[in-house]
Amino acid sequence: MTKNLILCGFMGCGKTTVGENLRKKSGMNLIDTDTYIEKTQGMTISEIFEKYGEDYFRDLEHEVCKELSQKRGIIISTGGGALTFQRNVDVLKSTGTVVLIDVPLEVLKERLKNDTTRPLLQQPNKDEAMKALYEKRMPLYKSAADIVIDGNNSPLQVALNILNSAKN
Ligand code: S3P
Repeated sequence: MTKNLILCGFMGCGKTTVGENLRKKSGMNLIDTDTYIEKTQGMTISEIFEKYGEDYFRDLEHEVCKELSQKRGIIISTGGGALTFQRNVDVLKSTGTVVLIDVPLEVLKERLKNDTTRPLLQQPNKDEAMKALYEKRMPLYKSAADIVIDGNNSPLQVALNILNSAKN
């Protein structure tokens, strides 16, 4: 496959684990934008947010999207905010198929209830914060996506469904 597969969706939808299953099943290389940023910066995402703020992180994220848009035949697992910015959609969408991994809010809340690694969710009222962000973002993901896959399944099943749909 010469096109890229670009995974998007809300925090906790499974982009990283589905990406890993996709990599195994397809033999394509996988690059996770957050992991890439953490490696190149030598800091965790939380540390980057804490030290330099969200705007700085978004600029790093955009640079990675631009860099990865030069590659073909890879799986790109994006951070949950990446494809809510038009500048990232602009550079990535033309390189392949954008896949939204769609998981209901209630399932995401359950999956993320003990999470401490997402700075945007470290709020006194986490459920409210998630709801507001989810409602704001879902229309953006949907407009960026070429295909929408039900993510409320095992990561392996989601990966197989993506491969099936992306072929068509
Ligand atoms: C973010 C999602 C995170 C990470 C950062 C910001 C977001 O990635 O990029 O904490 O804005 O939704 P995951 O979607 O992999 O959690």
